[in-house]
Amino acid sequence: MQYTPDSARYDSMIYKRCGKSGLKFPAVSLGLWHNFGKVDEFENGQKMIRRAFDLGITHFDLANNYGPPAGSAEENFGRILKSDFQGYRDELLISTKAGWGMWPGPYGDFGSRKYLIASLDQSLKRMGLDYVDIFYHHRPDPETPLEETMTALDQIVRSGKALYVGISSYDAPSTRRAADILKELGTPCLIHQPQYNMFNRTIEQQHLEVFNQTGMGCIPFSPLAQGLLTDRYQHGIPKDSRASKSPFLRPEQVEHSLRQVKALQKIADKREQKLSQLAIAWILRLPEITSVLVGASRISQIEDAVGALNNLNFFASELTEIDQILAEQA
Ligand SMILES: NC(=O)c1ccc[n+]([C@@H]2O[C@H](COP(=O)([O-])OP(=O)(O)OC[C@H]3O[C@@H](n4cnc5c(N)ncnc54)[C@H](OP(=O)(O)O)[C@@H]3O)[C@@H](O)[C@H]2O)c1
Repeated sequence: MQYTPDSARYDSMIYKRCGKSGLKFPAVSLGLWHNFGKVDEFENGQKMIRRAFDLGITHFDLANNYGPPAGSAEENFGRILKSDFQGYRDELLISTKAGWGMWPGPYGDFGSRKYLIASLDQSLKRMGLDYVDIFYHHRPDPETPLEETMTALDQIVRSGKALYVGISSYDAPSTRRAADILKELGTPCLIHQPQYNMFNRTIEQQHLEVFNQTGMGCIPFSPLAQGLLTDRYQHGIPKDSRASKSPFLRPEQVEHSLRQVKALQKIADKREQKLSQLAIAWILRLPEITSVLVGASRISQIEDAVGALNNLNFFASELTEIDQILAEQA
């Protein structure tokens, strides 16, 4: 069926400035790591993208290796762009990345100029795009000089194949160095994409200070700890869940998190929110956060995520209680 975007799509979404840049992100963004590959039902992915856009989600996050098989999430997204979003490219913020193993041999992994530039060219072809809005280096490369990787990002912007660049999963000192190099080259580092959620608070130690000092934004991935911070696993592991299907979330992790999840659920209940909404609101309490990058396997999960924006305020006592639960040994 022909898709016409909802004319009310910009009425209630919150848009937040990314660091000190000119660019605004929706407070909730959608990632295509899982559930958009060739192995997944295409129509379900298409419906989720349509619903997300109708809710004001303008930002869609991809990577060269999303699928499976690797590359197929970009191909499917390209199909959806072509069928549904002709004429809407300028309302969309599309990102992709390279940094994890993508093709055999020494040039399909990590952070060389050779890999990054070839990979972005492949991504653009798969998505049928002339440019992406943001291109990320997906993970740090311990062997390639940071100068080479950052110079490649700068070149990518100058060539017009990406409008902005970012980094993902860099530690705080490397984040600062990357920002310094890029600044000197004249292409500011727009954003960092780290993992951040109630179960992984690493970025609170040093990264936030670096974000403030360098003016870059922050878009945390796996804000729901891949589904642990929801009601998904509170009565066992459903067959269609990530913990059943994906190697990235193991049943032991579900088991390990349950006691804290149930305690957090009680706080969510008192706030009349879902646990997933509490987890998203909790991330957005930090002024350094630009957007929360959720994943979804169905439309209702996207609606839940956007629903989190209806209650973003916390009493100090709630934050203290959450800290206490998270500090307990699981
Ligand atoms: N830069 C990086 O290295 C990196 C790494 C990982 C992810 N990312 C990006 O971040 C995005 C999000 O990551 P993620 O998928 O791990 O995020 P997440 O939001 O923590 O987890 C998403 C999963 O949680 C479950 N879920 C979501 N909402 C729910 C709800 N309301 N109720 C119950 N269950 C719910 C669903 O799992 P079910 O399938 O079980 O329904 C969904 O697929 C990715 O798509 C990708 O774009 C980047």
